[in-house]
Amino acid sequence: MLGEIIMKEQLLKMREDVISSVAACDSMRELEDIRIQYLGKKGAITAVLKQMGTLSAEERPVMGQYANQIRSEIEDALTQAGETLGAKESEARIEAEWLDVTLPGKKKPIGRKHPLTIVTDEIKEIFLGMGFSVAEGPEIETDYYNFEALNIPEGHPARDIQDTFYIDSKTALRSSTSPVQIRTMTKTKPPLRIIAPGRVYRSDAVDATHSPLFHQIEGLVVDKGVTMADLKGTLEIFAKRLWGENSKVRFRPHYFPFTEPSAEMDIMCFSCEGKGCRLCKNEGFIEVLGAGMVHPDVLSRCGVDPDIYSGFAFGVGLERITMRKYGISDIRYFYENDLRFLRQF
Ligand code: PHE
Repeated sequence: MLGEIIMKEQLLKMREDVISSVAACDSMRELEDIRIQYLGKKGAITAVLKQMGTLSAEERPVMGQYANQIRSEIEDALTQAGETLGAKESEARIEAEWLDVTLPGKKKPIGRKHPLTIVTDEIKEIFLGMGFSVAEGPEIETDYYNFEALNIPEGHPARDIQDTFYIDSKTALRSSTSPVQIRTMTKTKPPLRIIAPGRVYRSDAVDATHSPLFHQIEGLVVDKGVTMADLKGTLEIFAKRLWGENSKVRFRPHYFPFTEPSAEMDIMCFSCEGKGCRLCKNEGFIEVLGAGMVHPDVLSRCGVDPDIYSGFAFGVGLERITMRKYGISDIRYFYENDLRFLRQF
């Protein structure tokens, strides 16, 4: 009798404890702790039920039923609290992870090609289309490739015209891309058709049209029966592809130690169409490249028999034609990396 009363009281107290701790609980995790504490295998209810043995045979089923009722009331309280807490927690999570999909995105800036690269690529395309391939050579050259092999021996006035940056008496920064002609002919048998774009160096004072570092694109064709007519035809096609079908060129006799005969090619001024204006300094034409038939001495020095083969070569100043193309007034813009300039291309 007494045991029954005590057990009932314990169970009632338990229900009350559960209700108040559930009310104070504010996370699913705490709630789970409460469930284990009361309903778990080693929990409070089990502990009370263990005392069933002290009850009489009549009391036992009554108490069993009562205990089950309390258990299910506790379960209900926990389930209900679980639902409320679960909803609250997921709401909090949604709030914390809230994201405004209508906000404008952050754009990743996309780089672009330097104007000199754009024009180099264009020129490469034109010559690749005519069966040329692209060759390269070192920027630090020996005296032999930079001068000697190009018919510019020591004491030759052309050495002074190209104010060369020397590293030591036999090594220099190349003063043109022409040494690539020598390298190519020396290591590859004709027929040859190459262009060689790259940096060149001359110790010129910096001004609007001069820079100690600039770029050239060399061209070289060597085969049987190559003539001055091939030179003119090839370079005329080049000019029309680069500047448009209506562009006009002219060739003037010139002198280079490594070509004979030599010429310079001018393009008719776009602005005045040959009449003469400020842009072309009243010339009507603008010089764009140097060219000529490869000198027989240069051929034989490279192991090419000038009685069997002939060739032509040309050298284009990249900065000058890029400045023409885009109307750039000062060569220094190319090297200053000012984004206001670079973003225009
Ligand atoms: N190397 C010459 C220069 O720098 C250009 C050139 C190249 C001329 C090839 C003739 C043939 O001015």
